Amino acid sequence: MVASDPDTVAGMRRIGALIAAALAHSRAAVAPGVSTGELDRAAAAFLRAEGARSGPILTYDYPGFICVSVDDQVVHGIPGDRRLRAGQLVTLDIAAELDGFHADAATTVPVGPVSPAAQRLMAATHAALAAGIRAAQPGASLRDIGAAVERVSTARGFTVFRDLTGHGIGTEMHEDPTVYNFPFEGPEGDQILREGMVFTIEPMLGAGGEELVQDRDGWTMRTRDGSLSAHEEHTIIVGEGGPVVLTAPPEGD
Ligand code: MF3
Ligand code: CO
Repeated sequence: MVASDPDTVAGMRRIGALIAAALAHSRAAVAPGVSTGELDRAAAAFLRAEGARSGPILTYDYPGFICVSVDDQVVHGIPGDRRLRAGQLVTLDIAAELDGFHADAATTVPVGPVSPAAQRLMAATHAALAAGIRAAQPGASLRDIGAAVERVSTARGFTVFRDLTGHGIGTEMHEDPTVYNFPFEGPEGDQILREGMVFTIEPMLGAGGEELVQDRDGWTMRTRDGSLSAHEEHTIIVGEGGPVVLTAPPEGD
């Protein structure tokens, strides 16, 4: 969306802050022995108590309130009985709606102690998101965001999954434009960022090959070669003075 009035901006800020709080709450529940379904139920209870609904359920009838993806699962992992083990990386991806406004954020969390390689992957994904956000200045282009994300990712030796992108968001979970994690050559990349534009930036990085496969469950996307992946996502609004993160973590987090 392009949020052009204060009520819309306020509505987007409310759902953004709520998702940030839900992510912090869910992150704190990650531990060896916890199941992905338990993480889903905790997030669902937290968000429902505030009157929010699941974006994936509303939009796609998805079989979970949130997406929970482990290790080589890159996105859209379905929560269930699988129990987390120390050394794994688990991605919590939370999209939700409140009062007609949608926001979306994700983060990859270590389960207990993880390998130095896993730590480097998480740090690179963080840095790629930060670079993408910094590039989202009014007057810049969508291509500038993708270029910034890719530059950081490849400089650190990681793979960008080009098939997976960020997206516009607002009154729906998935809106135009497509926000590529590389400098997209097509005309969509030329689009100039204007004040009020709301979209996600969400680098998904891997430690191995770029190829993805879909599980037989019809949702889960994982790396073909089984290599590790990480994902960091924020919903942002382009402000007059620069990008504003709507899903920024609560103070002191
Ligand atoms: N946050 C996820 C995304 O933007 C939501 C996926 S919904 C699903 O892709 F139903 F596709 F899982
Ligand atoms: Co998203």
